[in-house]
Amino acid sequence: MSNVCIIGTGSYLPEHVMTNDDLSNLVDTSDEWIRTRTGIRERRISTGMSTSDLAYEAGARALQSSGLKPEDIDLIICATITPDYFMPSCACIVQDRLGAINAAAFDLVAACTGMIYGIVTAKQFIKSGMYENVLVIGSETLSKVLDWENRSSCVLFGDGAGAVVLSKASEGSKILASRLEADGSKHNLLTCSALPLHNPYVNTGVQDMQRQGSFCLPKIEMLGQEVFKYAVRTIIDNINNILNMAELTKEDITYIIPHQANQRIIEQASKTCKIPIDKFHMNLDRYGNTSAASIGIALDELVSSGKLKKKDKVILVGFGGGMTSGSILLEWS
Ligand code: ACO
Repeated sequence: MSNVCIIGTGSYLPEHVMTNDDLSNLVDTSDEWIRTRTGIRERRISTGMSTSDLAYEAGARALQSSGLKPEDIDLIICATITPDYFMPSCACIVQDRLGAINAAAFDLVAACTGMIYGIVTAKQFIKSGMYENVLVIGSETLSKVLDWENRSSCVLFGDGAGAVVLSKASEGSKILASRLEADGSKHNLLTCSALPLHNPYVNTGVQDMQRQGSFCLPKIEMLGQEVFKYAVRTIIDNINNILNMAELTKEDITYIIPHQANQRIIEQASKTCKIPIDKFHMNLDRYGNTSAASIGIALDELVSSGKLKKKDKVILVGFGGGMTSGSILLEWS
């Protein structure tokens, strides 16, 4: 019987490392504050590569690890909140650069839950019989939407990309269960504005601001403590619900790969769920929060480390702006 399986993973991080000490030269902060409040020590910041450049690199690596050829890919989904353009989509640019000439392509916005939404969407296309092979990429250059004068937010994020190839296969790392959620009533907790309405009927002053050089570029804004509480609750709910769906217990789970937002969020969830912290794979000390990219990067890292063994059960769990959340239960192969 065919399953929907992950048959390849890949990731790419920009080379430039920005440490907490580097940040303390920009804003009034310290390595000690950032490490103790977030667990982050450093992050990668693009010094020229765009979101589609990072997405291409991660996508090419995932494709190579899957053993498929670019023309085998039927669909490319790119999850991002920092695309190069409103249009074309990042996925179309990647399709061209990979030479995936048979693939449909679109971008998806679910903020830091982007990789989870992307994989579940891909799964549905495969299950319906419409497509066989789907490349899902989470890619972000969050550095371009950070307020580098705001110490509460600029210390948290980094740039990067992660990718997986999903396929209709009888063998491979199977998706056993998945779920998606959204709570739009909390959309104001985490925002990054687009363009204000401006046309012959509406004057929001944007053009005047542009002329005066005071037009503000979009920036990430958040209510940090509210996001913190939402994140902890959501990780716990997702883990409990997906275990119920699959009729498994937490003892059956080898690893949990959470969205890499903040070590304290993950530690709090681990404590409340009574799941040992060493089951939670974390790399946020090195990369910070890379939004839609974080779960793909962490999964690829765990795969490359050789720690995942056949039959290991792994939960991917994400949460982010929207507010959105979701989880996927995998049986590794
Ligand atoms: N360095 C030094 N001091 C700082 C910094 C900093 N980088 N940032 C804030 N402070 C100060 C504040 O100004 C405040 O000072 P004050 O008391 O003089 O006013 C003090 O530290 C405490 O600020 P809080 O905001 O109360 O600090 P808190 O303990 O809540 O930590 C943090 C802030 C780290 C942002 C925390 O709320 C958090 O992690 N929230 C979740 C944020 C997050 O993960 N967002 C993204 C997740 S979803 C997604 O990925 C899309």
